[in-house]
Amino acid sequence: MTHQIKNLAEYQEAYRRSIEDPSAFWKEQAETFHWFKPFTKVLHWDFDKPEVRWFEDGQLNISYNCLDRHISSIGDQTAILWEPNDVTKPAKSYSYKHLLAEVCQCANALKSRGIKKGDRVILYMPMVPELAIAVLACARIGAIHSVVFAGFSAQALCDRVDDAQASMIICSDVNHRGNKLIPVKEVVDNAMDLGCNSVDTVLVYQNGDTSVNWSDDVDVWWHELVSIQAKECSPEPMNAEDMLFILYTSGSTGKPKGVVHTCGGYMVYTCYSFKNVFQYQPGDIYWCTADIGWITGHSYIVYGPLLAGATTLMFEGVPTYPDAGRFWDICEKHQVNQFYTAPTAIRALMAKGNEWPAKYDLSSIKVLGSVGEPINEEAWHWYDTHIGKGKAPIVDTWWQTETGGILITPLPGITDTKPTYASYPMPGIEAVLVDSDGNELHDNNVEGLLCIKHPWPSIIRTTYGDHERCRNVYFSAFKGKYFTGDGARRDEDGRIRVIGRVDDVINVSGHRMGTAEVENAINEHPKVIESAVVGYPHDIKGQGIYAYVITAGMNLDDAFRQEILATVVREIGPIAKPDKIQFVEGLPKTRSGKIMRRILRKIAAKDAENLGDISTLLNPEVVQSIKEGALV
Ligand code: PRX
Repeated sequence: MTHQIKNLAEYQEAYRRSIEDPSAFWKEQAETFHWFKPFTKVLHWDFDKPEVRWFEDGQLNISYNCLDRHISSIGDQTAILWEPNDVTKPAKSYSYKHLLAEVCQCANALKSRGIKKGDRVILYMPMVPELAIAVLACARIGAIHSVVFAGFSAQALCDRVDDAQASMIICSDVNHRGNKLIPVKEVVDNAMDLGCNSVDTVLVYQNGDTSVNWSDDVDVWWHELVSIQAKECSPEPMNAEDMLFILYTSGSTGKPKGVVHTCGGYMVYTCYSFKNVFQYQPGDIYWCTADIGWITGHSYIVYGPLLAGATTLMFEGVPTYPDAGRFWDICEKHQVNQFYTAPTAIRALMAKGNEWPAKYDLSSIKVLGSVGEPINEEAWHWYDTHIGKGKAPIVDTWWQTETGGILITPLPGITDTKPTYASYPMPGIEAVLVDSDGNELHDNNVEGLLCIKHPWPSIIRTTYGDHERCRNVYFSAFKGKYFTGDGARRDEDGRIRVIGRVDDVINVSGHRMGTAEVENAINEHPKVIESAVVGYPHDIKGQGIYAYVITAGMNLDDAFRQEILATVVREIGPIAKPDKIQFVEGLPKTRSGKIMRRILRKIAAKDAENLGDISTLLNPEVVQSIKEGALV
């Protein structure tokens, strides 16, 4: 189950060994798992291609390692503890034995509909245990899952289904989020009308009591198909480098890309990082508030915790329903020991007042985690004081969809913490800062671009269906290095602080959005001629979305703004809605026709006095009118 580092000397020793002899280090970690066929080769890599293969001649099944392997020792221990949205409903718990039986039934149901190894299955589900069950069922039979966050629109869902050429969609009838009821099946029906020609089954989990449209040709109820299946299903032996899942994420250009993770390396790294970053001890209750639709939920609600034999809490609802004490109520009720959330949630709850956490007994909390975006100092201190009571170390974990697991973080009780710093790389992670020419910056007290020099087991393998895009985005900027797209600073003691993206990706409430993607959505409105989208500092969300829009002779009123918002919601989903829309007559462009986003970013950030030299622009005259109309 991978080794757990216990003190600073062990961390330093592990780090040293991992850099001097990475293969020996990772071999030791990997050997703690169950392999149907042991591996003899540890690592092959070439970042130029890129080509990375870990444990490549080994065979395993990750669901076996998450479930079957634990049955003889902790079969009756709670694997998943589920807290529903509705406070009047009871929590549900699944022991490892019970979860295994449910996963096998679901796996058999998938097989009965013709799903086999290598087929893609899209999961578009609320945060119910059946989502985790479906993830593990796919893994069990070697089907490649692709979870799509259930807030994405029919169009966005359809784009992902088509890109993955999925044969099945698993969804629910509805999703309960606070006092909202979201018609999930209806969105799937709409997606099916837009395309999704590869899909022959839609498996529907009944999560409410409303009726839904039904098509007997493709739709099947979960409770009718899954419950009649056998409770055993032998796990498919997978090669370590077989695909485990695809997860779509935004980049600086084009449509979201399908990040591919493979079975063996992802298994080793998520378990290793989970055990070390949260210092999980047997009997602890661990809670990550993310949605399984994002990488955090994959690695640190489902796979990492279950591989480590932990009890992982899954919450269906939102932090402010029925009131702003909900998170703390759950922590008290279930005696949560490790609590992992995003800065945006911390800031939103901080704004509701200190009286909310004060009402609850939070003394069970030993470790607090933060993920998804830089945490500002004020939020860090509030989290430390009001939630951790100064006794629970904060692990500010830096990582990405592409990294599969946490790469830079303090280890609680082992390395020190400093507000806003993700601090130190995990053993096995060779993080470096480079300047824009790719020269490594060896000194402390410097700022640069964050790269990783050596592969770790859960590094991205490819972008689905487009390997060149993977090479180009991550491996072409700096030879021999994985480029993260983030800028970072290293302090005088070597701690790393990740400042944010240096590309055209914005981070809204910890969610990644490509500016090009939002622009394309806005441009779908027939009366929009052109648009440019930038991020700007936002008190709660970290970054907000600011859109500059050129239109064709419409009344530039709020009704038109609403139409644009509706277009974005239709094309992507509510999370991509611009916070501000400014109508402009032109956009500042270079002589080669490129939009000068730097100028637009400064105007949106109320820094318009500081634009630098704009005389080289093709149309410097538009800048003044944009400044005058700025919504700041
Ligand atoms: O900019 C970094 C930011 O989130 C990006 C990755 O987003 P995503 O793939 O959606 O994964 C989010 C959850 C792992 C990074 O490139 N980011 C993530 N964690 C941190 C962070 N920025 C600063 N500090 C963090 N702890």
